[in-house]
Amino acid sequence: MTDTTFRSPNKKGKIAVFISGRGSNFMALHDSIKKGYINAGITVVFSNKKNAPGLQIAQDRNLEILYLRPKNYESREDYDMAIAKELRSRDIDLICLAGYMRILTAEFCREFKHRIINIHPALLPSFTGLHVQQKAIDWGVRFSGATVHFVIPDVDMGPIITQAVVPVLQKDTEDTLSARILKEEHKIYPEAVRLYFEGRLEVRDRRVLILDSLFKS
Ligand code: GAR
Repeated sequence: MTDTTFRSPNKKGKIAVFISGRGSNFMALHDSIKKGYINAGITVVFSNKKNAPGLQIAQDRNLEILYLRPKNYESREDYDMAIAKELRSRDIDLICLAGYMRILTAEFCREFKHRIINIHPALLPSFTGLHVQQKAIDWGVRFSGATVHFVIPDVDMGPIITQAVVPVLQKDTEDTLSARILKEEHKIYPEAVRLYFEGRLEVRDRRVLILDSLFKS
């Protein structure tokens, strides 16, 4: 057996949600928090896109929103350092990438190791990158789905927390498959974050173990 490398905290967590677009996964997380399903609060919703529809929704829900203009920074490193500073000042426990379409720098990933998770609309490690629902259709796979995983510098390659399987139908278009996968995303993302703040995720090398509630400390 390998050494335990990380155990998620059992506490009321402070979350930063990162979005670039419509924000339906952000809403699913927020709704689950409001229902008491997740022991956490959303401290800030951050975006790299000023007009991301999800930012407006966050504002309407009286959450703090933060936008930093990428063009104001000389490099990706500088941009991510500015984000990191904002997060440090808010004492963020977990960053939930929810349709955040900008690759994080290795330095940022290292600083927040085991404190960044992402949702991806495919069964990783198959179909990384963009337009992955269309890639799944074109490849002819019978099943695709969604993956929640820890974020490491290698894009879409971090340890997998949970997955949901969705059949690919012969008549599927990118839109119909995306819609069915999205429904599952809205279930498994809150579930993963709940487990995280129940102190039930243990990362051992590439594997994430889900600890039984009996072992909660
Ligand atoms: C979701 O399908 C999410 O899995 C995907 O973007 C969509 C965002 O939708 N993320 C990625 O492709 C990341 N590689 P949302 O803004 O409605 O949550």
